[in-house]
Amino acid sequence: MAKAADPIKIGLLGCGTIGSGVFHLIGRNAAGLAEAARRPLEVARILVKDPDEPRPFQADTSLMTTSPAEVLDDPSIDIFIEVMGGVNPARELALAVLERGKSLVTANKELIAGHGREIMETAVKTGAHVRFEAAVGGGIPLIRPLEESLGGDNILKMMGIVNGTTNYILTRMSTEGSTYSEALSEAQALGYAEANPEADVEGIDAASKLAILCSIAFHAGFTAGQVYREGISRIRPEDLDNAREFGYAIKLLAIAERNEGGTSARVHPTMISREHPLASIAGNFNAVFVIGESVGELMFYGQGAGSLPTATAILGDVVNIARNIDRPPASARSYWSRPGVVRSIEDIATRYYTVLKVVDQPGVLAKIAGVFGEHNVSLESVVQKGFGSSAQIVLITHKVLERDFQAARDGLESLDVVEEIPSVIRVESD
Ligand code: HSE
Repeated sequence: MAKAADPIKIGLLGCGTIGSGVFHLIGRNAAGLAEAARRPLEVARILVKDPDEPRPFQADTSLMTTSPAEVLDDPSIDIFIEVMGGVNPARELALAVLERGKSLVTANKELIAGHGREIMETAVKTGAHVRFEAAVGGGIPLIRPLEESLGGDNILKMMGIVNGTTNYILTRMSTEGSTYSEALSEAQALGYAEANPEADVEGIDAASKLAILCSIAFHAGFTAGQVYREGISRIRPEDLDNAREFGYAIKLLAIAERNEGGTSARVHPTMISREHPLASIAGNFNAVFVIGESVGELMFYGQGAGSLPTATAILGDVVNIARNIDRPPASARSYWSRPGVVRSIEDIATRYYTVLKVVDQPGVLAKIAGVFGEHNVSLESVVQKGFGSSAQIVLITHKVLERDFQAARDGLESLDVVEEIPSVIRVESD
């Protein structure tokens, strides 16, 4: 049994942007961490691909090895921190840690959203601690508040801006009038985007994060593949102008809801009222708006990425495990074995902003209204913009079922007076 003053020994699996930030903070905040964790923290070994690769913070190269076994089989290590990202070899290493009954802290959203079930089942089997606060929302405390602080409530809805790159792009398009590709290049130059920006702009990153939030809030195993997903690459500067005119902002929202009809989970560009707290989240910041049955509305806001914010979330998990290292984990999460069930997007009702490029002649509006009427789609507002060859009808529907809206859209596309439907964006009502 370790003595109170013996250090908690850490094995770092990966030492890039986040891992080197963890190493840096363990040195910089040593005294505070020792108080919080009740024992000093000490990095014992670091697994890297290449000791000489450039990193934002220096780490001790004498602790580095390229051999996973040298880290995994070091008996002195108490807590392993996985910050490699991706599924391979992170999954194999994480399982090897847990099989040894050792504690795991990971920042890996793909790992938890794609393989959460086997991770949690292995941890339950061996009694190991697993924490992953940094996997969603970088430095913003989300997992522990949902799991512990709000453990006594029923979470009804979560709406989040959980991808900083897309929020940065939409902010620049809205405030600077940048095009989508100009704003994406800026986001890449600032280092916000993932190595493959498709993961950001197509909502893949946000879907993984929403799956994790759903698993925690709704006590079942949800996967990223269950989350309906649309990205932001088709948003046009005109849509942001129209949104502003109608009193909305456009955000890539991750939305999960649970009610008597079931659970829904979706990521798509969304118009929300400019009065909504999420509308004012600018740049690469993240925020998650939560509605609990008893607690009401809450919002969590902060830096959703970056070396030190993410490293902070990791160290919070390390502190939590260090304080409880000789006890079984407080949150065993055996519920992850129960598959989460998600409603089809076709059964979700929402409002839609739609732009139609039309032939500018008498009777066009009547034909359009006729198609919407045939499919039970009621219109809330209709505005014509431009005239002649640049005539566009911009409309917002009342709440309709996705299946009815899509049937109406197919009907509109086959009308000879509709040349193109360049934009369809869901509008969030509450
Ligand atoms: N690429 C992500 C983002 C950060 O833009 O928010 C890590 O999840």
